[in-house]
Amino acid sequence: MPGPGMPRSPARCLVVRYCVVVISLVYQGAYAQVEDAYAQGREVFLDRELGHCVLCHQVTQLNVPFQGNLGPDLSGVALRMTLKQMRAKIVDPAADNPHTVMPAYHRTRGLKQVALAYRDQPILTEQQLTDLLAFLNTLRLGSTD
Ligand code: HEC
Repeated sequence: MPGPGMPRSPARCLVVRYCVVVISLVYQGAYAQVEDAYAQGREVFLDRELGHCVLCHQVTQLNVPFQGNLGPDLSGVALRMTLKQMRAKIVDPAADNPHTVMPAYHRTRGLKQVALAYRDQPILTEQQLTDLLAFLNTLRLGSTD
């Protein structure tokens, strides 16, 4: 065993190097997953076939044209709502506001005027909802006034 100050054995160096490579790959993998959820969530927010949240909500960070203003600006939503509150709102907005115009994205009971093909299916899947929340959780723009 080489003591302090003595040259390290090449085998030990290789093991250390190997560990560093493995750790950075795992880290990059986890990071890529987070990036992926963000990108997918952004897609859910924008896509007309999915959430199409941009129809009613503005998000400054998105930098896309034709953002709606029927609902509140969501540029800083993660600063004022927890993930749990956001989820509850998206799943069933009428739960705390019976007169809301916002659609229920993950509720299947008690909906009116649903085409037969879409009956008993939520608009967004659990995965889409999770990705959407990952995206919303990054929206932390402070008020500018
Ligand atoms: C048809 C318009 C409409 C669409 C589409 C819509 N919303 Fe909303 N949303 C509203 C309105 C209006 C409110 C405020 C009234 C209320 O509480 O229901 C609101 C409130 C919210 C809130 C609470 C914000 C706050 O500051 O209190 C969140 C979060 C939210 N919407 C997220 C979403 C997401 C995510 C989507 C897409 C999956 C979406 N909305 C789609 C109209 C819409």
